[in-house]
Amino acid sequence: SSAISQLSLLSNPNLSLLDSDVKIVEGSKDYPVIIVVVGASGDLAHKKTLPALFSLYYHDMLPHQFAVVGYARSKLDREKFHDVVRSHLVCRITDRDTCERKTAAFLDRCFYFSGQYHDREDWRKFHEWLTEEIEWPMIHKQQQRLIGANGDGGGGGGDVQTERVPGRLFYLAIPPSVFADTLGGISSEAMAPESRGAWTRVIVEKPFGRDTESYEALRDVVSSCFTEDAVYRIDHYVGKPLVANLTTLRLGNFVFDVLWNRHCVESVQVVFKEDFGAEGRAGYFDSYGIVRDIMQNHLLQMMSIVAMDPPASPMAADINEAKVKLLRDMRPLRAKDFVIGQYDRYRAEQGVPPGSTTPTFAACVVQIDNERWRGVPFVMSAGKALDEKKVYVKVTFRETPNHSFVPEELQDRRNSIYIEIQPRPAVELSFISKVPGLTGRVVPTKLDLVYNESFVEEARDMPDAYERLILDAIVGDRTLFISDEQISRAWSIFDPALKEMESAPPMQPALYAYGSPGPILPETLIKKFLAGKM
Ligand code: NDP
Ligand code: BG6
Repeated sequence: SSAISQLSLLSNPNLSLLDSDVKIVEGSKDYPVIIVVVGASGDLAHKKTLPALFSLYYHDMLPHQFAVVGYARSKLDREKFHDVVRSHLVCRITDRDTCERKTAAFLDRCFYFSGQYHDREDWRKFHEWLTEEIEWPMIHKQQQRLIGANGDGGGGGGDVQTERVPGRLFYLAIPPSVFADTLGGISSEAMAPESRGAWTRVIVEKPFGRDTESYEALRDVVSSCFTEDAVYRIDHYVGKPLVANLTTLRLGNFVFDVLWNRHCVESVQVVFKEDFGAEGRAGYFDSYGIVRDIMQNHLLQMMSIVAMDPPASPMAADINEAKVKLLRDMRPLRAKDFVIGQYDRYRAEQGVPPGSTTPTFAACVVQIDNERWRGVPFVMSAGKALDEKKVYVKVTFRETPNHSFVPEELQDRRNSIYIEIQPRPAVELSFISKVPGLTGRVVPTKLDLVYNESFVEEARDMPDAYERLILDAIVGDRTLFISDEQISRAWSIFDPALKEMESAPPMQPALYAYGSPGPILPETLIKKFLAGKM
């Protein structure tokens, strides 16, 4: 049927939203969806997933017919679930009345089911409940619309030609320890009826394992339950507006495109700074550490976008190919490439074992063995409990060979492009300029694009990364999700260093004061590298 062929269009792994977001989203609105948030009682669901779904709803981006279903062990009734969800929803721009109306309408579509993750019988009951209580009413509404085709008989909106069975999107907001049971339960008991044209997709959160072995074990479980095109591995940094713009910035602008190589670039920094520690998450954080929590995924993804060769097209498959090639060209890291640190109060935090050597700060130099980047240091730096909250990429160009126009004593003689991902999205190009007047004085200056000032309307209501990514998963766009191959390559880059750092006796992190800049600045690491001291 046409519904099925259009559904397969929507699950096309090569579909890309890059140029035509709105058109494709509009086209997909007639496909009903049930979004199941597994672990709906938890931190991620409350802070990110449910607010993102609400925001998509009030911006009218979700399908006309949708339902949000929480699944977790906690014994909540629907009313209690609504209370919890309501307390986390934020209307970014709408006025108070509209906000209240939209909140009530959203909660009307929110349901809750209490079940165990490992119990197949619970998943079977869930499937029955979902089919009868949520799916049938959605289909029934469509039937009513079809019968009264000329009037607005059934609500829900949309130009429905034929009845459609809702797709099921499972968002796994649960600890990795229960991934396998949950995936097994869903795949054996709770799949949407494929024979009637309905799809099932799962969104899986990082961390994707702790090393190659554990990742491969997880991958085996996932692939025994789902085909690759049904699995959406999320790294929310890839969905951040400024990260999504990195590709356009470097490949859509001739002036940057021609400079993007070792002949012109001296160094690249990819930096993550947080001004709070692992408070309240020590149980998870202490067994992962900053390298696995931030570097192996968020920073490596940003770096891949900055450094990959131009993909053949903006299609998901081509972007993936370009990233995988780049990851293959990166030299595996060793302990000697790292400086690690730990903030002074970390060991006193609840849940941190005495004498823990888990790094809360790490900086390293990554080298890329290809024609474009050979010899250029890429510094990744990530730290918790530092002096500020900031994430940025900085590309520094080589010094101009013509010193007659730029005095040698001038600090910051090099041009650079600074891209602030958060908290103040901006792009700054630094360059040297003569001060107007009769003197010959030259100074470093900046041309900047500050999102809040240049895109006033859009920046006021900038979507959270999770909104973008959940919407992409609903319409079947895999462009911003992480492939299995990317994760395997990422572990093979970090595994050797992690093994060396963690084998007895473990590498000791340098202590740094909570709220300080950390044990080393990226610039210092670059200088050491360029001076051949690393
Ligand atoms: P939580 O610890 O809040 O766990 C989510 C839910 O899972 C809990 O409400 C609980 O629900 C259930 N749960 C917790 N521990 C166990 C356990 N040992 N066995 C079985 N069920 C358990 O985790 P988060 O929400 O913080 O994180 C969920 C996932 O998202 C993780 O993979 C995490 O790494 C990832 N993530 C989290 C981020 C965040 O900001 N929180 C950011 C990025 C990724 P119940 O008891 O009701 O079943
Ligand atoms: C998560 C990490 O993936 O990203 C956290 O587990 C970190 O440790 C968080 O705080 C940062 O995300 P954001 O979007 O707040 O910068």
